[in-house]
Amino acid sequence: MTAATTPKVPVEALIRPAEPCVIVIFGAAGDLTKRLLLPALYNLKQSNLLRQEFAIIGVAHTPMSQDDFRSKIAQDIHEFATVPVEDHLWQPLEQRLYYLAGEFQEADTYHQLQDLLTQVDQDYGTQGNYLFYLATASNFFCDIITQLGAAGLVREDNNQWRRVIIEKPFGHDLDSARTLNKSIGAVLEEKQIYRIDHYLGKETVQNILVFRFGNGLFEPIWNREHIDHVQITVAETVGVEGRGNFYEGTGALRDMVQNHLFQLLAMTAMEPPISFSADEVRDEKSKLLKSIIPLTAETVQTDTVRGQYSAGIVKDTQVPAYRSEPRVASDSTTETYAALKLNIDNWRWAGVPFYLRTGKRLAQRVTEIAIQFKQVPSLLFRQTSIDRLTPNFLTIRIQPKEGIHLKFGAKVPGPAMTMDAVEMSFCYNDYFGKIPSTGYETLLYDCMIGDATLFQRSDNVELGWSVVSPILEAWATTSPENFPNYTAGSWGPLAADDLLVRDGRQWLPD
Ligand code: BG6
Repeated sequence: MTAATTPKVPVEALIRPAEPCVIVIFGAAGDLTKRLLLPALYNLKQSNLLRQEFAIIGVAHTPMSQDDFRSKIAQDIHEFATVPVEDHLWQPLEQRLYYLAGEFQEADTYHQLQDLLTQVDQDYGTQGNYLFYLATASNFFCDIITQLGAAGLVREDNNQWRRVIIEKPFGHDLDSARTLNKSIGAVLEEKQIYRIDHYLGKETVQNILVFRFGNGLFEPIWNREHIDHVQITVAETVGVEGRGNFYEGTGALRDMVQNHLFQLLAMTAMEPPISFSADEVRDEKSKLLKSIIPLTAETVQTDTVRGQYSAGIVKDTQVPAYRSEPRVASDSTTETYAALKLNIDNWRWAGVPFYLRTGKRLAQRVTEIAIQFKQVPSLLFRQTSIDRLTPNFLTIRIQPKEGIHLKFGAKVPGPAMTMDAVEMSFCYNDYFGKIPSTGYETLLYDCMIGDATLFQRSDNVELGWSVVSPILEAWATTSPENFPNYTAGSWGPLAADDLLVRDGRQWLPD
């Protein structure tokens, strides 16, 4: 499908600019700020979604003057912006950039921050609305929020709002997530907390809900009567990218499954919410996560697979084994790959397995949800060999080459009545053109207008952890003797193929 139409009304004309506010970024000297947050704010500025009454304060422990911070960010934006930077748009943003050097644990930092915020409110009319973005290592989350609370910076008086965005990882397991929720809940109300999962900022992830609930065509067959099984794949070609230290204590299950894959699963399988308000959507996600049949020590053995890559060739380049990456133990047992089979115990999905897999250094970068529909009840086309009767697959491709593809059978031209698999494809770029984005624009904007739909509520996060906990516990009791068990550049361990083969299924071939 390649219709070359573009939307008639520019999106910017349909939405109002964000509310006046100051964004305070903790960890402003780090990677996230320069690679994603500032480019996203620039894109919002370009789309006219930031008001004049707006400013940014960076806080970090790196000693740096305000002028130095401005010139650093000015250089960075030219490197990382997703569109060419235009001076008349960048200059007003640069003027609104402030910097505060300070330790996150010290009360004095917050007293200085308070003074600076008062000054910025006066200079730019930001009305005392503050959005605190914790772009720091997770061990600072609690300290920063406690200090913000002690300094009175998160109190919402006189119609002013105060919100906090918390990056991942949110906890390390169920207990630590609960403890963190409890500690921050002592300072903030739930409506002030925005737990970010950057997968929810991806257009195509948001489109899952539009696709399912904005079309009459698919929802009637979106259930156990018609669907055989669902596959969710998040395959990466990158390795740990210099984050060996972090990854060693994390692994694929915590890094990707508990958050990103479960978000994809919830969007694919949840019931229609009664409205698109934040709580209605998040209620449905929680209900879905609660319906997952908990794995036991026995089913962890049969229904999960972990893997770690050895050296190999990815995209024509020789890459080292995980155990040879910097700051990784030479006998590491951390998994760089995880696959699991989950069953959902509700009326819609009983008996329909969901197979999830994610891994680093795989053959190809692809994130997709593939839904296999049931076969026809009786085989009429006898001249067609069984392997040509490809089942109907609907694939929602999240990245790259975002789109939706439907595979179905068609008659091969000629006198014989034979069938082959053909594909009908919709590609985002063909239809809407390429819209350069970092994936953080919508998330930042939503936070500035107080819409938490795309952010995780405390119960969503805890439920995610409660599903992976039995796996983490079971894996911790046995050492994976066969690591490394897949070659970089392959599709992962053979055992992950077996997970489907023994059910008479296979991963959707690319
Ligand atoms: C992050 C993980 O949350 O997501 C990384 O910590 C991973 O390990 C990244 O590489 C993948 O995100 P994306 O958007 O590139 O699919």
